[in-house]
Amino acid sequence: MSVRVIPFTPTFGAEIEGLDLTRTLDPDSLETIEQALAQYSLLSFRNQKVSDEQQLAFSSRFGRVHQSVMDTARRRLTDARFGDVSNIAKDGGLLTKDSERRKFSDANQLWHTDLSFMAAPARMTVLSARQLPPVPPATEYADMRAAWDALPPKQQRALEGLRVEHSIFASRARAGFTEFSAEERDKAPPAIQPLVRTHARSGRKSLYLSSHAGCVVGMPEDESRALLAELTDFATQSQFVFSYSWQPYDLICWDDSCTMHRATPFDSEQHVRELRWNAVCEPAALLATLSV
Ligand SMILES: [Fe+2]
Repeated sequence: MSVRVIPFTPTFGAEIEGLDLTRTLDPDSLETIEQALAQYSLLSFRNQKVSDEQQLAFSSRFGRVHQSVMDTARRRLTDARFGDVSNIAKDGGLLTKDSERRKFSDANQLWHTDLSFMAAPARMTVLSARQLPPVPPATEYADMRAAWDALPPKQQRALEGLRVEHSIFASRARAGFTEFSAEERDKAPPAIQPLVRTHARSGRKSLYLSSHAGCVVGMPEDESRALLAELTDFATQSQFVFSYSWQPYDLICWDDSCTMHRATPFDSEQHVRELRWNAVCEPAALLATLSV
């Protein structure tokens, strides 16, 4: 079966048909995915019953896989290359509403870009649906290239060159979670990112925002907060947003350099949802071209 790219919309989101991700990707398939990712930013592969090893093998074809530095005592999954996007507690039951991990992951319902608080942020995130509730909650994606294109040229000129400080503790505090150890805080210092990025492959410009974004470097705090909030509101208007409907065993990946995303709520005290997350880091050579 040949590989087909089936767009969800003319410019944003596509399904890739004809690939079995439990097997090693050949170079042509890898190139098809890279090209589709640069064009559509969000890709879906249906009915992929991958193991953890197979998911990692897929992700690692796109670059270095991120490894978490967060406290291992909080984690259910022992492999630090996986994020546990689930409501399953370490004892196998469902997380309670007031559990620490629940509060931590609730921050994923804020619009964000994965790992924007790292010096080497995510270039691509991979998420595999292992268990879904009867009515799976959608994951929403904002096309930050389309948002950039829609800004008035005068505002675009004013934004180019601005730099933004991102921190994991900024987004977690917004979600009411502040209980991090001094060691964890030391391990995750803030990162400075450009506010406007140019995609290395497509050449398209996009806004680079996230709930992790705390302030614009060199701008008064009030002005900085207002600007980031205004741009986030602008970029997440419905005309820029695609809502992804999950099916069992979907594996999806997206380009973090030109999208934001957020989780939506579901009845997590009644139903299990288990997704496996990993992220591929931006390569150092590309980061060097961003001039932050
Ligand atoms: Fe995320």
